[in-house]
Amino acid sequence: MILITGGTGFLGAHIAAYLIEQGEEVIFLARSKQGLSAADRVDRLLDWLGVAADRKKNVRVVEGRIEHPALALEPDLSASMFREIDEIVHCASSTSFAERKRAEVEAVNLDGLRHVLDLAERSRCRRFHLVSTAYVAGRTSGPCPEEIVHPTAFTNVYEETKCRAEWLTSERCAKAGIRLSIYRTSIVYGHSETGRSLLFNALYYPVRTALFLKNLYETDIRERGGRKAAEMGVRLDGDGWTVMPIRILVGDGAGINVVPIDFFVRAFGSIREGTSDSGVFHIVNSRQTRLEDIIEYTQALFRIQGISACPAQEMEGKPRNALEAVFETYLEAYGPYMRDRRIFGTERAGPILDKKGLRCPDLTCDSFKRCLDYAVDCDWGRRLFQR
Ligand SMILES: NC(=O)c1ccc[n+]([C@@H]2O[C@H](COP(=O)([O-])OP(=O)(O)OC[C@H]3O[C@@H](n4cnc5c(N)ncnc54)[C@H](OP(=O)(O)O)[C@@H]3O)[C@@H](O)[C@H]2O)c1
Repeated sequence: MILITGGTGFLGAHIAAYLIEQGEEVIFLARSKQGLSAADRVDRLLDWLGVAADRKKNVRVVEGRIEHPALALEPDLSASMFREIDEIVHCASSTSFAERKRAEVEAVNLDGLRHVLDLAERSRCRRFHLVSTAYVAGRTSGPCPEEIVHPTAFTNVYEETKCRAEWLTSERCAKAGIRLSIYRTSIVYGHSETGRSLLFNALYYPVRTALFLKNLYETDIRERGGRKAAEMGVRLDGDGWTVMPIRILVGDGAGINVVPIDFFVRAFGSIREGTSDSGVFHIVNSRQTRLEDIIEYTQALFRIQGISACPAQEMEGKPRNALEAVFETYLEAYGPYMRDRRIFGTERAGPILDKKGLRCPDLTCDSFKRCLDYAVDCDWGRRLFQR
């Protein structure tokens, strides 16, 4: 029996569906939300993921909250769970970068983890899978090894707590004799072939921001005389394309490391099955995607012109215009991930994935279009379950 936390989230739901399809019995530790019980939320997700009805008999849902000691479970329930759990997949996490939310992020990513580790130690669990992030490497450039690291600086509270979570889990699992696999992934986006996704942050966010600004100023031009658009330098060209003068800072040899969800799940499964030792595994793309490519795909897809990639020397020579200032304010938190020079080693994960013939597909114009069409179609997740 495998217990999964965070199974209502993007990565957790896909991992759970994969495990269920493999014939595993899965317990979701989930919470109720927005008037839906935990069980109803999981059921809706499993339908969205296409899990067959006969496979659902292997699924149990227990309602709980990881930031509570004993996970806020009924005492009888926790006693029976302890007897059944063989493995835990821990995906639950706060993914907020905001320093003002530090207490909340620590409560989930550290205290919550402690409570799940308590459960692992008191149950018969012999294997713990920790879903982490490649960005525990912190503020650095160059090679990042597949080992527990102790960076001196982090970009945000998310990176910091995810790194401290790895220290904590390694120490506790080693003491308890529990085999630990840490899966560090970079930025995960939708399915490379279908474009389907449950989450529309990270890779999607800059595109969504550009689209938001385009719609805002187009409406101003079409309905209110276009004064605000003109102040921002936004105009429509003769073919109806929107011209938005935005230079985006790029770094030489820097880019964004992105992985589609289908690759992430297959890699997770291969590593889970292909290793008998504890270890850290990078599930990343061996090639950074260039911002220049994402700009090109975005402009072609949404009929935008004027967005350009700009190296630092050129940027400094000419002050930012008003539109660039707005755009950058929206994207400040994502900057370090868009101009990334970290190189994630795959000495440990690489041979396991090679054996299965698994290679991370690159983001192409076509896969980008599929993912963004899906995102727009479901209104960035708002209409996800109504389609
Ligand atoms: N997405 C990426 O690009 C990416 C990249 C690198 C690493 N990761 C890692 O992948 C893991 C999953 O992230 P995700 O992208 O799937 O995020 P997500 O969609 O936001 O999912 C987060 C999950 O954590 C659960 N959770 C949060 N607080 C909780 C609490 N107090 N009690 C119980 N459950 C709680 C959420 O439950 P609710 O549904 O009830 O809110 C949800 O199931 C995280 O460890 C993250 O660090 C993700």
